[in-house]
Amino acid sequence: MWFFTSPRLVFGPGSIEFLASLQARRALLICDRELARRGVPARVEEHLRTGGGEVRLFAEVDPEPKVSTVERALTAAKEFQPDVIVGLGGGSTLDVAKATYALYERPDLGLMDLHPLTDMTLGQRAILVGIPTTSGTGSEATWAVVLTEGEGGRKLELAHRELVPRWAILDPDLAATMPPKVTTDTAADALCHSVEAIASDWSNPFSDAYAKQAVEILMEELPRTTGAKGVPSPTRESLHYAATMGGLAFGNAQVGIAHAMAHALGSKFPVPHGRASGLFLPYSVEFNFDAARERYQKLRSALGAPHVASGHALADRIRTLWDQVGMSRTIPQALPISAPDFEKALPDLVSRADQSTCVSSNPRVPTTAELERLFRAAWNGTRVDF
Ligand SMILES: [Fe+2]
Repeated sequence: MWFFTSPRLVFGPGSIEFLASLQARRALLICDRELARRGVPARVEEHLRTGGGEVRLFAEVDPEPKVSTVERALTAAKEFQPDVIVGLGGGSTLDVAKATYALYERPDLGLMDLHPLTDMTLGQRAILVGIPTTSGTGSEATWAVVLTEGEGGRKLELAHRELVPRWAILDPDLAATMPPKVTTDTAADALCHSVEAIASDWSNPFSDAYAKQAVEILMEELPRTTGAKGVPSPTRESLHYAATMGGLAFGNAQVGIAHAMAHALGSKFPVPHGRASGLFLPYSVEFNFDAARERYQKLRSALGAPHVASGHALADRIRTLWDQVGMSRTIPQALPISAPDFEKALPDLVSRADQSTCVSSNPRVPTTAELERLFRAAWNGTRVDF
């Protein structure tokens, strides 16, 4: 027996007006500082207030959010007693909103209880709404929450089916506030989610359907994100929906070692998540290919038969795309760190990746030595042929 979990999707330009129909009495709106600085929450608050309800803004989410951020948001929730909790932003904000919602509903639980085996009934006090303002993480559609334990601390990978928001509002107009580089980084993350979901041991016919469609859209639209005139509106809209499709795919099938390595790198160094997951994707495909050859063949219609003929062919197709859009192909391209600093960090990077939950559903479980070789390949930009 298996499940496919999805939020109810509301989509289209201007679809944030749907918030009015929720008739919130008290809505807690969680977003990040940068979004608040750009005035984006005001566009959402207006609709939340339509029914005469109150809105409290919690705008303290930073990139790579910490456990302490959730603790502060939870304090705000306990004081305000919302009946609607809205996460507005990128993956970091949506993850904070999901964790806050769970602990607000179940004050008897702690963060470490947010795992699939906990008996949890949420939705008694509030409903959770996810509104992505980037087009990549897919967090609005998934059961996963990634938090950092402290400065430079490990990533906590939490998950429970009930953390999937009740509603996900996909309004591409909100994504238009993204800087161009963020558009590319986050779309690269969406491609990584989709390719890893296809190859996962937990892949299934429903996750495959979304993953294949997302790959097709992303391959076609990603090169259009780098034009001098900015991202065209149809591309913006397609990327926004493809990101949620990727979220539905990996949310129901898991990701793999590209994400294990990206979480490890992101917990040690300040690198945008999508840039990290994107850079590791070609190496992971080369490593996995023989163990999941038939699964990768499902991408034949999206990519063409020659590009799924071998791990190197598929990796090269992705590398060509990365070159087209200016994505990093190696760790030193993505991060200004020296070779000695990398060598010093390597044992910890390997250990953190090894302990990631993303490894368990990867079609080929790497040994510690293989993980080290994978990190070295990604540092040097060399092919994975082991
Ligand atoms: Fe990701």
